[in-house]
Amino acid sequence: MQRLIHKEIKNIFVFPSKNKAVKESAKFIANLISKNPQASISYATGNTQIPVYLELARMVLKSKLDFSKTKAFHLDEYYPCKPSAQHSFVGYLRKCVFNPLRISQSNVFELNGKAVDPKKEAKRYEGLLKKHPVTLTILGIGPGGHIGFNEPGSSFKSNTRLIKLSKETLDRDRNDRGQKSPDHALTQGIATILKSKVIILNAFDQEHGKYLKHALTGRISNSCPASALRLVGSKVVLFLSSDAAKEIRS
Ligand code: F6R
Repeated sequence: MQRLIHKEIKNIFVFPSKNKAVKESAKFIANLISKNPQASISYATGNTQIPVYLELARMVLKSKLDFSKTKAFHLDEYYPCKPSAQHSFVGYLRKCVFNPLRISQSNVFELNGKAVDPKKEAKRYEGLLKKHPVTLTILGIGPGGHIGFNEPGSSFKSNTRLIKLSKETLDRDRNDRGQKSPDHALTQGIATILKSKVIILNAFDQEHGKYLKHALTGRISNSCPASALRLVGSKVVLFLSSDAAKEIRS
């Protein structure tokens, strides 16, 4: 393991392979839960996190880890969107997180992508997050340096809200990934995310390393939402593969 030196974020860990980075990220989450079995956790969805969640599920199966008392939140959901849609983040989380990690149903807090009034739904979710302050947020990074679905231009003071997805995100979702997903989403805001006690961000390949480069080496500005993490750098931990780190160093 190597460290990448950065002014605001001291804990940037670089692992020789994606596999090693995945294992260490999962180990970090597992340690946190052993110390705090009632932790409140906000989960990102996306391809990046799948192997991390699989690793956690393996630990649960071997009875090495118990998520049953943890609380589960998530970062975002397409809008409008029902859980049975192929692209639904709620659907993804039920399949990859809530069920395999055996989190009690009563401790799962889902964003309702079918809510008639998205403003009201965002307010409801923000209220729940306030009631159960988040111990750990698990992030990925996407086009334009988005975290959750906070697209470039999102205020660092933003709370949970409805947002229009950027052209870059829509191109990725619809053209590169062939999704038939909507052009809006409900997302936790940047201010909401920054309140989490600990924030980890996983980036395991070149594409995600490129997004991170802007966030870590450019100006701290809402033109790159992930750059906001530098404002709370002491509670941020990055798990990178060497492929991702190469992009940041280049
Ligand atoms: C999704 C989320 C997004 C993703 C990002 C990267 O819940 O929070 O910010 O982390 O779009 O997605 P993948 O990993 O699919 O490339």
